[in-house]
Amino acid sequence: MRKIPLLMVCALIVLSGCSRDKYMPEASATPEIIFKEACAKCHTPVNGKVMALSPSMANTEAIIDRIRNGKGFSMPAFPNLMGDSVEGLAQYILENSETK
Ligand code: HEC
Repeated sequence: MRKIPLLMVCALIVLSGCSRDKYMPEASATPEIIFKEACAKCHTPVNGKVMALSPSMANTEAIIDRIRNGKGFSMPAFPNLMGDSVEGLAQYILENSETK
């Protein structure tokens, strides 16, 4: 019987798909470095563009929200990217992406 609550907690974690990336940038890291270290393994730049943003994602607020919270199983959340580092990174992505 004692195992059931634990199983339910595990199932909830899996179902909510909250994968988290513990990446922590160096204090001196520029947005470009952060992108290379934390994002480029999935978002490989093509023709100098780091990613293709859907229109609803093409603003810094939406990008910051996506970085901090992730999405589903595929895009992890980065809880350690905050303040200036996440703002600079969002700006960098906006400037270096194409909009679909
Ligand atoms: C493990 C792979 C992986 C890593 C690492 C990753 N992403 Fe993603 N990201 C994805 C996938 C897959 C999607 C598409 C998810 C979806 O829309 O269902 C995505 C979507 C996004 C989007 C939304 C694009 C759009 O228009 O819908 C942004 C912005 C983004 N990622 C930024 C980042 C940033 C910034 C980093 C680094 C801090 C990062 N990602 C790291 C896999 C990754």
